[in-house]
Amino acid sequence: MVIHRCYWERIFFLSFHQIIMSKKSRTQKLFQIVSFIFQLVVKRMQKIVLESIPEGNIVDIGGGGEGIIAQIGGERVTSIDKRQSEIDEAKHKAPEATWVLADAKDLDYSNDHFDNATSFFSIMYMSNEEKIEVFKEVYRVLKPHGEFWVWDASISKEKGVFFIKIKAVIPDKKVVRTGYGVSSKKQTINVVTKLLVEEGFKVEIIENKKNWYFLKAKK
Ligand SMILES: C[S@@+](CC[C@H](N)C(=O)[O-])C[C@H]1O[C@@H](n2cnc3c(N)ncnc32)[C@H](O)[C@@H]1O
Repeated sequence: MVIHRCYWERIFFLSFHQIIMSKKSRTQKLFQIVSFIFQLVVKRMQKIVLESIPEGNIVDIGGGGEGIIAQIGGERVTSIDKRQSEIDEAKHKAPEATWVLADAKDLDYSNDHFDNATSFFSIMYMSNEEKIEVFKEVYRVLKPHGEFWVWDASISKEKGVFFIKIKAVIPDKKVVRTGYGVSSKKQTINVVTKLLVEEGFKVEIIENKKNWYFLKAKK
């Protein structure tokens, strides 16, 4: 099993960093770190087969890190990430994609610019308030009937830390093993669906797995 450098980077920077920088007591932080390491060891890898991505030009939200969507869609993908380090990590895996350092809450594109949109395990890093702003922006930049495809973790705990191990199988059968960890927040498919509907999307649930989900929302 090949474990990429960013697997560990993501664990340490996006997860430990969040715990350490949180306004919690030292005991709470220590507890979160122990819980995080426990999940890292015991949790099973979730296999996600990406048979396809949307057609046309795509805006991928939080597309850095592994750059899964950019690896599949190449030049059709505009990958938005607010962290330069995550873009640097992904860029060489899909150099033909367009890489943009920006916060998805404020996209520098006109209305109806993109055919479709995606988000692969990125919204779990946003508070529900942030998700609302991002969904509003995605809706704005999508063409009428454009689709927003979301793969993300089902998180039911509101406290502590959450970690998911992923084995993504992309169309050329390449396998990418990675892991994503965050401070817990309630983001079940029902919560995310409700937020999307409130921003005007029509949601079709395609897959609801135990630990993750995939949904398509249409403008
Ligand atoms: C788990 S990581 C990357 C997952 C990525 N889609 C992949 O294929 O590996 C989630 C990313 O979302 C980005 N992110 C979180 N909130 C964001 C926002 N408001 N705007 C842009 N990027 C954001 C983070 O910087 C991080 O790189």
